[in-house]
Amino acid sequence: MALLFYLLFWVSFSALIFIIHRTSRYRRLRLPPGNLGLPFLGETLQLISAYKTENPEPFIDERVSRFGSLFTTHVFGEPTVFSVDPETNRFILQNEGKLFESSYPSSISNLLGKHSLLLMKGSLHKKMHSLTMSFANSSIIRDHLLVDIDRLVRLNLDSWTDRVFLMEEAKKITFELTMKQLMSFDPGEWTEGLRKEYLLVIEGFFTVPLPIFSTTYRRAIKARTKVAEALSLIVRQRRRESEAGERKNDMLEALLSADDGGFSDEEIVDFLVALLVAGYETTSTIMTLAVKFLTETPLALAQLKEEHEGIRAKKSEGEALKWSDYKSMPFTQCVVNETLRVANIISGVFRRAMTDINIKGYTIPKGWKVFASFRAVHLDHDHFKDARTFNPWRWQTANVFTPFGGGPRLCPGYELARVELSVFLHHLVTSFSWTPAEEDKLVFFPTTRTRKRYPINVHRRNHVKS
Ligand code: HEM
Repeated sequence: MALLFYLLFWVSFSALIFIIHRTSRYRRLRLPPGNLGLPFLGETLQLISAYKTENPEPFIDERVSRFGSLFTTHVFGEPTVFSVDPETNRFILQNEGKLFESSYPSSISNLLGKHSLLLMKGSLHKKMHSLTMSFANSSIIRDHLLVDIDRLVRLNLDSWTDRVFLMEEAKKITFELTMKQLMSFDPGEWTEGLRKEYLLVIEGFFTVPLPIFSTTYRRAIKARTKVAEALSLIVRQRRRESEAGERKNDMLEALLSADDGGFSDEEIVDFLVALLVAGYETTSTIMTLAVKFLTETPLALAQLKEEHEGIRAKKSEGEALKWSDYKSMPFTQCVVNETLRVANIISGVFRRAMTDINIKGYTIPKGWKVFASFRAVHLDHDHFKDARTFNPWRWQTANVFTPFGGGPRLCPGYELARVELSVFLHHLVTSFSWTPAEEDKLVFFPTTRTRKRYPINVHRRNHVKS
């Protein structure tokens, strides 16, 4: 008993000394101004409840007006510096691996797997990032991927009748596209089964990562195991085929035949899981929101239709889109940019300070989290006039814009996402007219999405060729 009391005393005493030491160190450091909120909880509850509203930036707006564009808060269990300053954000992105390193909540990193590109660091990250970039660059899209994107988008749209939930359809399309690009799989029962498991994994990203407390998390872990088992089978089979000289032109082949002896099955599976995550929710949400914003902005929709009907008019019935067609869609690119700006699927990125960092007269202490907010910059009236209105015409001039991040972690799928969205819009506006089936609203937590999966009533257009 005495020993227990003695131990308890020393643990509490050491914790107290640690807290006093840390607090006085922080006082000396000149932290960015802000509020750490309640013990342990910090300001997490304020953050969550703010993003469940339709206002995109209530949490940040309020603090920026009180403290400025660099402020301190405490969210998801850690003190965190928020940056709403484009110059600081660029500095954070460019110094990845030197002053900052990427940092995901444990709910996400556990489900991704330890060999995921999103979690890799140092030289391995550099190598894998450039491998991924090389597999989704313009010439690969032009020469190999575009034909499948065109075919699979069309195949999906052909099955639409009366009423569709656009969010669901867009997810199906992007999953099928990614499966094709990664592993040369055409859609079928197997891919659809895998997608269902996949949805359960993604649900687990935004829950408490404790299986005892959360059924969603338990279900996500089980689904992650099933996905990994299914992918392992494919990897093994493809390894055998590859060794026998039977080569396919996809990402999996690039991984199997990489220099320095290639990768283990487990590494490849984690890598594939991460790529499926990175390209799936993001691109499908942006597809849905482009349609929502266009529906609400008839002038933009009319101009977009004109652009695509012009392209269609020069083609024979059912002829696939070519790279030169994609390159002659200037207004579509304005629509893509403006959708990315207003929707901000990735609202910003979390990093961890690897050392004490001096910035704008303040210090970010080593080990603290930093959140570089893209959304707050993209929706700031100082950088974009009338920033919260969807106005694709503004892209006729460039600006501070980082929807795909930057620096060593620049999104490898940035061109691919643009192509997928452009092809989707092409077939949508040239084949259908639509009206919203119900009013639907945007929310921003835990992810950017519409509340009701954006149901629309679709009407097939009889295509008139000029
Ligand atoms: C509209 C669609 C998309 C948006 C808005 C988007 C946005 C982003 C952003 C902001 C990052 C940087 C994260 C960071 O710095 O920590 C990122 C990373 C990444 N994205 Fe995308 N992305 C999209 C589509 C895609 C697609 C289609 C792919 C498929 C190839 C993809 C693959 C990745 C990967 C693998 C990373 C991790 C890079 C790394 O950590 O090195 N993304 N994405």
